[in-house]
Amino acid sequence: MISRLAIDVGATGIKGALVNIEEGTLLSDRIKYPTPKPATPADVAKVMNNIITDLKWEKGDIGIGFPAIVKNNVCLTASNIEKTWINTDISKVVKEQTGFDSHVINDADAAGIAEMTYGKGKHLDGTVIMLTLGTGIGSGVFKDGVLLPNFELGRMIYGDSVAEHYASNSARKTKDLDWEAYGGELNEFLLYVNRIFSPDQIIIGGGISKKFIKYGKFLDPTLPVTDATLQNNAGIIGAAMYAAQKQE
Ligand code: BGC
Repeated sequence: MISRLAIDVGATGIKGALVNIEEGTLLSDRIKYPTPKPATPADVAKVMNNIITDLKWEKGDIGIGFPAIVKNNVCLTASNIEKTWINTDISKVVKEQTGFDSHVINDADAAGIAEMTYGKGKHLDGTVIMLTLGTGIGSGVFKDGVLLPNFELGRMIYGDSVAEHYASNSARKTKDLDWEAYGGELNEFLLYVNRIFSPDQIIIGGGISKKFIKYGKFLDPTLPVTDATLQNNAGIIGAAMYAAQKQE
């Protein structure tokens, strides 16, 4: 069995677990710490160190899902994370604080990799879009199972600002929308995405995916949309898979 430690950095919580790569399941409890405020590189790396210690991880590169555009482990944007991350080599900060090498991938790309292997995306060809609805909107885009990294559908110019300010779970909470009103907002966004990409499948993930029954009925029935199987663990599982691939 191949096990791997992975950490999913979010705007409100930083979660980690040991993952069974071959089964796409968690081998430990999911450990969660609140994201430090402000979420500076040094403070976030300290939380990662706590998770590594809690899980008694001793050897092997770790996987990290990060809520930003990430290229070659470097953070390039910071819409929902502290600005000093921009142009920071995340793996370098992690190495300094924890002693471990790491492989860093956008959080929604990680969730998508897991869902495409073990969830609703399994065996799906064509264009598949994984959307994670949380503080922001993350997107993992796949063509015939191959990831096109760093798509930022939540940051598309939309209304008076960007799409995630209308259709994310935090927009629902901030605007105090009931499920019907939120379903309406999400529907507008999904119709827009559908118009541009003509996806074969849209998969809704993130914390809100488990409440799909409440808002799914307000979505246009012609949309090819479904909820994720792996729900909130997809980001951790996908980041672990990514690290395992990179270390091979
Ligand atoms: C970021 C994305 C991220 C998403 C979900 C957005 O604000 O720009 O990179 O995937 O939030 O965390």
